[in-house]
Amino acid sequence: MSGQRSSQWYAGTDRNAYIHRAWMRRGLPQHAFDGRPHVAIANNASDLNPCNSHLNEVAESVKQGVYEAGGIPMNLPVVSLGETLLRPTAMLWRNMAAMATEEMLRANPTDAAVLLGGCDKTIPSLLMAAASVNLPAVVVPGGPMLTGTFRGVPLGCGTDVWRLSEEVRGGTLSQEAFARSEASMIRSRGHCNTMGTASTMGLLSEVLGAVLPGLAGTPAPDSRLLEGAHRTGRLAVELATVGRRPSDIFTSASFSNAIVALAAIGGSTNAVVHLLAIAGRLGVPLTLDDFDRIGASVPLLVDLQPAGAYLMEDFHRAGGLLAVLREVKDLLDPSALTVTGLPLVDYLDDAPIWDPEVIRPRRTPLQEAAGIAVLYGNLAPRGAIVKPAAASTHLLEHRGRAVVFDNIEDLHARIDDPDLDVDADSVLVLKGCGPKGYPGMPEVSNMPLPKKLLEQGVRDMVRICDGRMSGTAYGTVVLHVTPEAAAGGPLGLVENGDYITLDIANRRLDLEVDPAELARRTPNAATVAGFAKPTRGWERLYVDHVLQADTGADLDFLVGSSGDTVSRESH
Ligand code: FES
Repeated sequence: MSGQRSSQWYAGTDRNAYIHRAWMRRGLPQHAFDGRPHVAIANNASDLNPCNSHLNEVAESVKQGVYEAGGIPMNLPVVSLGETLLRPTAMLWRNMAAMATEEMLRANPTDAAVLLGGCDKTIPSLLMAAASVNLPAVVVPGGPMLTGTFRGVPLGCGTDVWRLSEEVRGGTLSQEAFARSEASMIRSRGHCNTMGTASTMGLLSEVLGAVLPGLAGTPAPDSRLLEGAHRTGRLAVELATVGRRPSDIFTSASFSNAIVALAAIGGSTNAVVHLLAIAGRLGVPLTLDDFDRIGASVPLLVDLQPAGAYLMEDFHRAGGLLAVLREVKDLLDPSALTVTGLPLVDYLDDAPIWDPEVIRPRRTPLQEAAGIAVLYGNLAPRGAIVKPAAASTHLLEHRGRAVVFDNIEDLHARIDDPDLDVDADSVLVLKGCGPKGYPGMPEVSNMPLPKKLLEQGVRDMVRICDGRMSGTAYGTVVLHVTPEAAAGGPLGLVENGDYITLDIANRRLDLEVDPAELARRTPNAATVAGFAKPTRGWERLYVDHVLQADTGADLDFLVGSSGDTVSRESH
């Protein structure tokens, strides 16, 4: 084999090639440098990212596959983002992880990459990196955890945390029982087992074509994940040899298919910002409106939490992603390719549904039209999104008085105040949670309901925010309001008592305030100065350069691709 990129480092008789080879000769034989593909395993394993802590074992299986196919595997630890621990929010670091991975793939003698991720931001950051460096790349999604149970009923991690904690606040669950459930929630290795962001992005990376078809959604402890990792290692060597790159795979057709799949699986709203950011890295002309145009009329076929009943282990048992895609095959663009070189639709003929309760046939969907709805109006001039599948039917069209919180601290301080002027018809408005305003666009849009209303049995209200929502959350939540309050968006001008109309059928979100009155208002200082503006480091860079949610919240200077060329020798 010859012509590999890594030969720029290893081939030849000069001093530099000698140094490059010699420092790597710690067990590697001389023929490791004869031009065969060197495959980086971009490995997100970290003890501080518990959803990904098993990825070292997955990496070993990838290595075996790479060796077996004649390549040389190289473990490349990359920035790992654990959703539950990172402060202020893991999303603040997604672009940093993407940038670091991109640069390390480019700066090192790599011919292809196997991308190991799982927890929410990890697969998006890896795909953004792979798109920008445009080296042959393939993903092994780390897979969901097995189903935990508490008092004989399954626990959906994330979703049931919200549900149980609301029950505690509403007085229907004791603090002791809540504490006991904690030990039951996380049953095994793997990421969250609901159709949250991690599950969604693992599945969508396969729809985009970046995963061996049929592998995404395999539970983390399932031995078939390791077998798939082995086969992926073999495939990575083939990718390097034939030169199949992300730009060949991530096309308008594959993003269109991802939007169809996002609706059919009832996936996380976070996929919107992630897909927009990945597309932006390759110049694929994807817009917020495409999510509504392509996905809005797609039926919901998967009955998984947070909107439904089952969990990812059930989904895999029921036939998994390919079974869902077969049901909506007529909506897919058949030209979209996968890493194998074959179209995605070629993998759908033998993909039966084994449990029609979990994965519904097309003729009996859970909802007829379940995609992301994109709303516009004077409250969201550049758009906001809502997930009708997770919303309450009686709130899909609603008019109510705003109860305004200027930032997240204000919300926490006052939401349970018995004197808060709020009722079940009120619209909760939370400002200061966009990409710049927090900073990092945290998952707080599904704000808790006032305790006094919970005690009255209220379980959902219209909530509006410029932040994101956890993929494991549910409710009538309008999120990603753009422009955000801290960037001068009209959300920052809403005051208590203003009437707001939400009309999802007509895609409207409007503030019923006279334009002249709005022009007189200025944002509350607590919204725009709710955080201490960072003076240095990544946060400074982030706040200065982050784009708004409607284009994926990437940094302005990271949009696009630099390819795999390094201009200068290593010195
Ligand atoms: Fe890692 Fe949910 S916390 S996937």
